[in-house]
Amino acid sequence: MDMTTSRVDDSFRKDVRRCFEKQTFAIPARWLYDRRGSELFEDITELPEYYPTRTETELLKANGPAFAAFVGQDRAVIEFGSGSSTKTPHLLKAIEPAAYVPIDISGEFLEHSASLLQEEFPELPIYAVEADFMKRVALPEAVADMPKLGFFPGSTIGNMIARTSVDLLRFMRETLGEGAQLLIGFDRIKDVQTLIDAYDDSAGVTAQFSLNLLHRINRELDGNIPVEQFRHKAVWNDLYARIEIYLEAQADVDFSIAGDDYSLRKEQKIHIENSHKYGLRDARLMLRAGGWTPLQEWSDEKDYFTLMLVEAHPLKHAP
Ligand code: TRP
Repeated sequence: MDMTTSRVDDSFRKDVRRCFEKQTFAIPARWLYDRRGSELFEDITELPEYYPTRTETELLKANGPAFAAFVGQDRAVIEFGSGSSTKTPHLLKAIEPAAYVPIDISGEFLEHSASLLQEEFPELPIYAVEADFMKRVALPEAVADMPKLGFFPGSTIGNMIARTSVDLLRFMRETLGEGAQLLIGFDRIKDVQTLIDAYDDSAGVTAQFSLNLLHRINRELDGNIPVEQFRHKAVWNDLYARIEIYLEAQADVDFSIAGDDYSLRKEQKIHIENSHKYGLRDARLMLRAGGWTPLQEWSDEKDYFTLMLVEAHPLKHAP
């Protein structure tokens, strides 16, 4: 086992132990994305009920000339949490950037998708950065003097609670600098059934994705959780304007993880993800709280999803 694997194991074990021992009954969502989880998430993005990926990709495809008009050419595009970079080509084609900097915490993933992108854009300088974008990131020297455009698609901001998203927006402003722009995706508030269906599809792929977390605990942390006794549950919390994802015990269950015994009562829920949804004014206010001034917005015709372009203006003192 290499160092990286054992370090991941340690923090995974710590997070899972906190859930059951300290009875927080919450596990950070990042543990959903092991190899199997990442595959299942790819499948989710193709489900008829899961509209966000499709809608945002269509927005990126349809508005190229408008992006070019607002963004101009020769910016360095900095993508936060680039993953497989599947949406990026549409943006890169539209604005002819001077460089592309994908930032991702998973170095392996990063190199692979950067080299695929290099094949599609042979002339484009690409500088992959392996880093945690939830902190200030040191950008490559080569892009230091270029005007910048941050790219944060997927409504990934929605997976953070409000104060964390504002922290992130402020870090992004520090990373990119004054005068930078940011193109960021927001999943909109819409009718509740559409939202629930997107997180609880009829084919049960999303349920498999959630339950894979328990399988992962069994696989990697020597557990024997009876996974078939748990159910995937998606709930709309209207006060917080978010979908909450839970794994709910269907009966009293006993199990052990790495030699430690735990038991859960019937109907005990383990919280594994939040996905906040936004009104336009919610999104604008949050962006301003993070130091970004709204410039332009693009939405689909159902108002399911919005791309916002914002700019880091010099900070003004309030009157
Ligand atoms: N970022 C995705 C979203 O909030 C993640 C996601 C989609 C997800 N479906 C899920 C997370 C189901 C947990 C369970 O839209």
